[in-house]
Amino acid sequence: MTLDEIKARLVVALTPKRYAHSINVMKTSMEIAEKYGADPEKALLAGLLHDCARDISDEEILELCKKYDIITDEITREQPSLLHGQIGAFIARDSYGVTCGEVLEAIAYHTMGRSGMPILSKVVFVADFIEPARSYPGVEEIRKESQVSLEKAMLKGIDNTIGHLLDIGKVIHADTVKTRNWVLNMLKHNA
Ligand SMILES: [Fe+2]
Ligand SMILES: [Fe+2]
Repeated sequence: MTLDEIKARLVVALTPKRYAHSINVMKTSMEIAEKYGADPEKALLAGLLHDCARDISDEEILELCKKYDIITDEITREQPSLLHGQIGAFIARDSYGVTCGEVLEAIAYHTMGRSGMPILSKVVFVADFIEPARSYPGVEEIRKESQVSLEKAMLKGIDNTIGHLLDIGKVIHADTVKTRNWVLNMLKHNA
């Protein structure tokens, strides 16, 4: 599938705001990839498609989990949209013809991350936090950090998310905490 064909399909699958966000994440992913030595073409594709499953209903997400043998837990069954990355990777493969494992992985783990995630996944993870239309308390600090260190930008982004969830009294998925611990340890050992 060509990039234009992918865009033509995506624009129908997403709300206009989400599609604009996807285009922004695509561009920002490319920029970050170039800065940190990841593959810009793969970053472009992963950034463009990272939210391809974001506008699927909760019911359908849970149906697709059964279809693709994705394991759910008490938190994701309450908030199925937390699984839009994992579902998105299957949809990118089956509906958008993506075959590159690195791209599919970057889509799968863009929401909660995972320990040991490779550079392309980090790039998309950070781009999702800082694309130009993003506006929330703390975004400027994450943008600044992304100019210095991909890992530090990840940590700031995760801390921001966790802080927000604490503020509003929401549950925090263990995968987010695991990703944070991994990044924190990595920064400590590379300091
Ligand atoms: Fe997302
Ligand atoms: Fe996103």
